[in-house]
Amino acid sequence: MIHRRDVLKTGAALTGALGGAGLLVPAVAAPAQAADLDPTTVPQFQQAMPLPEVLEPVGDRGMTSYYDMSIEEADAEILPGRLTRVRTFNGRFPGPVIKAVSGRRVVVRQTNQLSVPTSIHLHGGHVPQNSDGSPMDLIAPGGGSKTYTYPNHQPHANLWFHDHAHEQESENVYRGLTGLYLLTDDVEQNLNLPSGRYDVPIALRDARFDESGQLVYTMGDFKNRQVLLANGRAWPYFNVAARKYRFRLFNTSNMRFYALQLSDGSAFQQIGSDGGLLAEPLDVTSVFLAPGERADIVVDFSRYTVGSTLILGNAGGLLPGDPADQVGRVLQFRVGGPAEDTSSVPATLRTLPALGTATVRRSFVLSMDETGKTMDAFINGKSYAMNRIDTEIEYGATETWTVRNANVYTPHNFHIHLVQFRVLERDGKPVTSGPESGLKDTVTLKPGETVRLQATFTGYEGTYVYHCHMLDHSAMGMMASFRVSKTATTAQSETRRHPSHRR
Ligand code: C2O
Ligand code: CU
Ligand code: CU
Repeated sequence: MIHRRDVLKTGAALTGALGGAGLLVPAVAAPAQAADLDPTTVPQFQQAMPLPEVLEPVGDRGMTSYYDMSIEEADAEILPGRLTRVRTFNGRFPGPVIKAVSGRRVVVRQTNQLSVPTSIHLHGGHVPQNSDGSPMDLIAPGGGSKTYTYPNHQPHANLWFHDHAHEQESENVYRGLTGLYLLTDDVEQNLNLPSGRYDVPIALRDARFDESGQLVYTMGDFKNRQVLLANGRAWPYFNVAARKYRFRLFNTSNMRFYALQLSDGSAFQQIGSDGGLLAEPLDVTSVFLAPGERADIVVDFSRYTVGSTLILGNAGGLLPGDPADQVGRVLQFRVGGPAEDTSSVPATLRTLPALGTATVRRSFVLSMDETGKTMDAFINGKSYAMNRIDTEIEYGATETWTVRNANVYTPHNFHIHLVQFRVLERDGKPVTSGPESGLKDTVTLKPGETVRLQATFTGYEGTYVYHCHMLDHSAMGMMASFRVSKTATTAQSETRRHPSHRR
């Protein structure tokens, strides 16, 4: 049997070969190189934050839009005046945006020009197994292609797509394989939220560079990724008019947790989370985002005078010794003159779907070796195995899952494919309001924390995964498979029949 780390080394060798142009740093799990770029030397607020390019369909027929993407290497100006070799969709870093509408199908053909396998997953999407981009459903390197079909039989949501190839996802995502997928519907369109150029998606992540400006990937290396990027630029600025803006924030980092706030401490509104709008807007001074999570916020800049600047700062995930002016800052807003603003944020945004009655309860424990002796991570004591089904689910079942982080130092989070779930409880306390009260597909678990989730597994039969979305951890094995089928017997595994009524 090939051990995970041998596979990783193989991946590293491939990467090394690919870096024959001398541009890619081989991803060997070696100690930190002396030649790291000092993040405090990177100039801040010099580059404008770009908007991710909106991808045009190559065709529209009936109720389907067709897209083509090429997965390829390219150079991106992440650091001012320097080029960094990255892995991209269509040469874009971060990847392009697909704009989709509920009820209208999207078909994407992905062609993999890299020298490593890929598998493209639509995070938060409700899609058939063969389009889920599962870890085993690989697109061969060197020109292999695969067509993914996204039915969009689901409400509006800020989704994103990213690589999910078994044991490669963490490095592929780190090197750039992410893109955004904004799904809208009538519920969202009928509101009068800031739109057009006042509706801005922002993909957040961190990175570590060497002195030549190239990305350094070392598995599990959360503390050395100290350069923060917004839409692919290190600490950019963004010009805003003195009016309301909607920002759709995506945490596409492998490992970094953010607590985002404005430098003057002032309040803004959170209107949405992973699975679309919240039932009602929240007045907040901070939004918390674990890897994979999204937040939709509205900031009103009309209270600032022309020429003022403020920083979107980060108070999350800071470690002792971190350079605070680096990991504590994301981007700078530069407030210009007033602009007409007829948008509004209503007191009620949407009606969330009814919860239903759960008939099955399960529990999951996340853990990893915190001694640092191995790179092993587990769900219920097991590392991911490609041909093992860990959880058998009856088609249509509503279940509650209790998920606990058994580690004492390491945060985790938990993401389930196929479904949007609800967070019922956190550490035994009911979650009835706040940022976790909407539809979620990823939930944070600080060390020792427990959450109780509820989901209904319907729409498609098939095999999907659940995992920690700190992608270095999922690549270490903190991932497992569930199978939804009409013939599943709930007598299997640790399942117990247990009616539970909530709300
Ligand atoms: Cu965003 Cu299984 O992933
Ligand atoms: Cu996902
Ligand atoms: Cu984890």
